[in-house]
Amino acid sequence: MTASDSKTTALITGATAGLGAEFARQLGEQGHHLVLVARDSGRLAAKAHELENNYSIDVEVIAADLTDDAGVAAVVERLSDEARPVEILVNNAGFGLLRSFEENDIEDEKAHLKLLVETPMVLSHAALKGMLRRRSGKIVNVASVAAFLPRGTYSAAKGWLVAFSRWANLAYSPQGVTVTAVCPGLTHTEFHDRMEMDKSVAPQWMWLKPDRVVREALAASGHGRAVWIPSKRYRFIVAAAQVLPARLTTGPPRRSK
Ligand SMILES: NC(=O)c1ccc[n+]([C@@H]2O[C@H](COP(=O)([O-])OP(=O)(O)OC[C@H]3O[C@@H](n4cnc5c(N)ncnc54)[C@H](OP(=O)(O)O)[C@@H]3O)[C@@H](O)[C@H]2O)c1
Repeated sequence: MTASDSKTTALITGATAGLGAEFARQLGEQGHHLVLVARDSGRLAAKAHELENNYSIDVEVIAADLTDDAGVAAVVERLSDEARPVEILVNNAGFGLLRSFEENDIEDEKAHLKLLVETPMVLSHAALKGMLRRRSGKIVNVASVAAFLPRGTYSAAKGWLVAFSRWANLAYSPQGVTVTAVCPGLTHTEFHDRMEMDKSVAPQWMWLKPDRVVREALAASGHGRAVWIPSKRYRFIVAAAQVLPARLTTGPPRRSK
């Protein structure tokens, strides 16, 4: 990247698959340089090559496990590099656990909480310093409609991200930095296959496509919204869940494939 280059840079966690790959594609298409973060270095290199070829942008990669302190530190270091400012941070990497809380290994629960809560908090903290100094920047936190529903520790973790974003957007938008929690419903990605969940438990109409979710997410961030739920059907579901008893909104138990 040259000093006269006016393109800004976006850093996306979990950028090799699903929603993260779509954030990378749409932000690349808009002309942003990219920093892609995930664990699988082969997939990162292939994705970087594809995006550089398609959009004439620079793409860096950081192979890091974001449930691990050293992995998070590598991304913090990049976000703290004032010579190469990151204007957009997308906290997206995540996974789900198929079984219920009491059945899960506590180490898996701790890694889940770290990736969904501690890592986005640490990366937001690192990114904010430069963004506030420059009085410009955007943070997009990929939460979930589960934040509004009683669905185990996943809901609890995503609820934290929504509450954090709601407060942070209020605190920092007067200083030029917006923080947006995006709350998708069920979306076709690798997420459910990775947790070995039977996707047929949910009817077809409940499934969203990643391009729509990301388009709405970027528009919401552009408008400086604190929280955005993509699609009318899920805004309706969340509104109904606010008034219905919790036992009616917990949904069917997850089933393995
Ligand atoms: N799909 C849905 O229905 C849905 C709905 C609501 C919210 N969400 C949220 O959307 C976000 C993205 O999920 P997705 O559906 O796009 O999932 P996905 O298709 O499984 O993609 C997950 C991405 O995160 C990366 N990742 C996973 N664990 C990681 C770790 N420990 N360190 C670094 N990177 C890691 C993966 O790459 P590597 O394996 O190479 O690390 C991959 O790039 C998550 O926060 C999820 O909770 C998803």
